[in-house]
Amino acid sequence: MRHAASSESSVLITGESGTGKELVARATIPTASGPGRSFVTVNCGAIPDGSSSRSFFGHVKGAFTGAVAEKRGLVEEADRGTLFLDEIGEIAPQLQVKLLRILQEGEFTRIGDTQPSG
Ligand SMILES: Nc1ncnc2c1ncn2[C@@H]1O[C@H](COP(=O)(O)OP(=O)(O)OP(=O)(O)O)[C@@H](O)[C@H]1O
Ligand SMILES: [Mg+2]
Repeated sequence: MRHAASSESSVLITGESGTGKELVARATIPTASGPGRSFVTVNCGAIPDGSSSRSFFGHVKGAFTGAVAEKRGLVEEADRGTLFLDEIGEIAPQLQVKLLRILQEGEFTRIGDTQPSG
């Protein structure tokens, strides 16, 4: 856990129910998120399927009806800090694939945008 906390790597924590996965995730905060570094927790099971991409990636102004202003997503909120995806197995496989791109390439695209954000 110390090793993981001091690295920039993504970490997958698995284990049966109630074995302390969240405890482990929180224990890796201190070095991973220093001053000015955010820690964003996402309860993946609580995000409705219909709006999950928007929640994660944000959108540009005019991306869809009602998108009157641009909005940062959860991924951007966690920029340079830690994004804790609790119960990631609960989200749709298609969205897991999009999140994989962030883990592998460190980039994502806001909905309605043409260029990826770093
Ligand atoms: N090693 C431990 N020592 C003491 N208490 C622990 C330990 N591991 C977990 N707990 C306690 O057990 C409870 C469940 O832990 P936690 O929420 O981290 O588990 P989880 O793996 O995320 O569970 P779930 O699969 O239900 O989401 C918490 O109240 C936590 O404080
Ligand atoms: Mg848990």
